[in-house]
Amino acid sequence: MLRIAVQKSGRLSDDSLALIRECGISFISSSLKLKTESTNFPLEILFLRDDDIPGYVADGVADIGIVGQNVLVEEGKQDLSVEELGFSKCRLSLAVPKSAEYNSVKDLEGKNIATSYPNLLQTYLQEQGVTAHIHTISGSVEIAPSIGLADAICDIVSSGSTLISNGLKEVERVFKSQAVLIANQNLSEEKKAILEKLLFRIHAVQRAQRAKYILLNAPNEKVDEIISLLPGAKSPSVLPLAQEGWSSIHSVVNEDDFWEMIERLRDAGAQGILVVPIEKMIL
Ligand code: PRP
Ligand code: ZN
Repeated sequence: MLRIAVQKSGRLSDDSLALIRECGISFISSSLKLKTESTNFPLEILFLRDDDIPGYVADGVADIGIVGQNVLVEEGKQDLSVEELGFSKCRLSLAVPKSAEYNSVKDLEGKNIATSYPNLLQTYLQEQGVTAHIHTISGSVEIAPSIGLADAICDIVSSGSTLISNGLKEVERVFKSQAVLIANQNLSEEKKAILEKLLFRIHAVQRAQRAKYILLNAPNEKVDEIISLLPGAKSPSVLPLAQEGWSSIHSVVNEDDFWEMIERLRDAGAQGILVVPIEKMIL
């Protein structure tokens, strides 16, 4: 049995549970329960505060966990990191009141800055050669300027709406973050084997999320040109169509450069282009 710690409620919790479910791992979750056991995979899920997760994983209370890099690096536990998960992307930023004059980070010299991330902020200010007074508070950082507690804040920004609704503007990006899978460094062989199985599934889910299956028709004389436009998967499949002189081409493409590629395929003579989501992808 492997124990995974996930955030009980917050920005990471839904995506963390969705990833576990997409790995084909079933469990019953209730907001009242602190832990639950999968019915079809040797996994126990603990629901914890995100800030506590690196510590519990380091101590072996949980074997693995899903946590934001912001929390992990702030607590100096980045050695536990196993895998970037690509969701809950956000940044740690400095923000000042909208009306404040701001030209560069030097304007923060000698100012009061409220944050829940004193270590990340201190490292950044040092790099910038700025000395400021850091006030560590554990929550509701965004109200600190309006109650006169600080001149600036350093906090997590995702959509940016918290800053806007508190009359603040983002002025510097201090740290980029996303969710990561972390693991205790002394797992038993049995637990390592379960983690390997889990990682195999996570990789299949991640690859599938980035990729699309594409099917298109093309006149035979255009097939070589079209194949040269299809990156990614090893070699596309080419099947003859019932209609003389035409072929169907099937391939897997990455979503990043997707629309530009579709345009190039059409210009090259592709027709009837179908794009289909991929559920799992095993290489
Ligand atoms: C952060 C931050 C803001 C919010 C910003 O909190 O403290 O409250 O997210 O998001 P927005 O830009 O989309 O408005 P977080 O979810 O990390 O909660 P926590 O500090 O309680 O863990
Ligand atoms: Zn938190």
